[in-house]
Amino acid sequence: MTQEFDIVIFGGLGDLSLRKLLPALYRSELAGHLHPEARIFLLARTINDQQKLLAKINKWLTNQLKENECPEEKWQSFANRIQFCSLDITKIDERWQGLSECLAQHPERDRVFYLSLPPSLYGTTCENLNNHNMISAQSRVVLEKPLGYDQESANDINSQVGRFFPEDAIFRIDHYLGKETVQNLMALRFANAMFEPLWNGRHIDHVQISISEEVGLEGRTAFYDQAGAMRDMVQNHILQLLCLVAMEPPNQLQANSIRTEKLKVLQALRPINGFEVQSHTVRGQYVEGLMRGKSVPGYLDELGSDSNTETFVAIKAHIDNWRWAGVPFYLRTGKRLKERCAEIVINFKPVAHNVFDGSAGHLSSNQLVIRLQPDEGMQMKVMAKELNKFEMRLQEVPLNLSFADTFENIRSDAYQRLLLNVIENDLSLFAHRDEADLAWAWVDPIMNAWNKCGSPVLPYEAGSWGPDASAALLHSDKRSWHNGGKLQKAKAK
Ligand code: BG6
Repeated sequence: MTQEFDIVIFGGLGDLSLRKLLPALYRSELAGHLHPEARIFLLARTINDQQKLLAKINKWLTNQLKENECPEEKWQSFANRIQFCSLDITKIDERWQGLSECLAQHPERDRVFYLSLPPSLYGTTCENLNNHNMISAQSRVVLEKPLGYDQESANDINSQVGRFFPEDAIFRIDHYLGKETVQNLMALRFANAMFEPLWNGRHIDHVQISISEEVGLEGRTAFYDQAGAMRDMVQNHILQLLCLVAMEPPNQLQANSIRTEKLKVLQALRPINGFEVQSHTVRGQYVEGLMRGKSVPGYLDELGSDSNTETFVAIKAHIDNWRWAGVPFYLRTGKRLKERCAEIVINFKPVAHNVFDGSAGHLSSNQLVIRLQPDEGMQMKVMAKELNKFEMRLQEVPLNLSFADTFENIRSDAYQRLLLNVIENDLSLFAHRDEADLAWAWVDPIMNAWNKCGSPVLPYEAGSWGPDASAALLHSDKRSWHNGGKLQKAKAK
């Protein structure tokens, strides 16, 4: 169970709060993690009827979680924690004082300020918290991505927040780091003796990190059209995954050690500048197509105007260090792709010498698939002899670790884990300012070069795997994407 705490959610009735934060806190309530005295303050510009709002939240949570998971007494104790507070952050508002007095009832408590707001409001909000004496030694602030539009604006926001909160009280949330399999990646690498000796360019041919989504804009038109796939997914989620795959073993599983190793990876990312974007990157935008047999509109139709924003990116990246010399990292993300799937695929080199003759069939190289979603798990593809055959015939078979089959009651709620980490003051799954800065320093020149070189935004049909150029990016290296699909069952064909 957590210690006593107060959490103040700015944008408390917004989309993120309703879809992710409140369900995550409620799940923690159901699991008995929340201290009985903990309070939740929901802030919004206008709060009218509080009873109606509570009923709305109750309905929302009941719909999200399975009904039998929501016993009435648990809901009551959750509802008792909630206090609403209307406040216009952009104005000098005497209601800041009211909030300050509420928090001052428990000056010794841990305080979490969750800024579920546009980043342009972070500075003003922190200044107001400071002016009304709400920032105690036990206070922390949580910032949502994307933090800024480019390196300069991100620096600016970080500096504004940094005037009021020390770096070790700033939690930059990246919900991908809260996913169960991402943490299992650390277990796989550092709790098993067999993988680490192979985890380098001598044994690994290439790595793929791919997050494909079926959804389109989901109503977030203004935000998304400003951001595009590069800022929305690559600068944060994809580069964080790349860091965890590629980093050296940290001295300890603690924030500072992990951050130090992640920084080294980002520093070693080879820049992609100027015309290199044409051979190393592909960007695309979906047009009308069929998703699971149903016709869906293209990006521009959803947006209702013209735009050059990319909804798909594929990149061939290199990490210039001893471990990864010569190993391409292929990164890919896109909306309205054929399947929802997030995975890291480690492709090993072929055996040094093939002792089998041609009649044994094709020798595939080993492949380790680390599936983040859906059907979380890991699968190692190995070659085996086909059973019940007199002659030696080889077949690729999977060694499976399906989390659903192995662990009971798996429920991976990234926000639940990350919020508990914030409350417990554990920074290990949050990005340091320098990480965000280096990530921008790598993506900014790519985006600038796209504009300068007039690199095209290629159309792709909704329901496909992206522009043909994405497949060609790998084909020209005699490789191909591992395109989702169910993790194969261990039964031979
Ligand atoms: C968010 C992006 O950070 O991640 C969204 O802003 C994206 O555009 C989402 O859809 C994907 O998260 P998940 O957990 O659904 O894969």
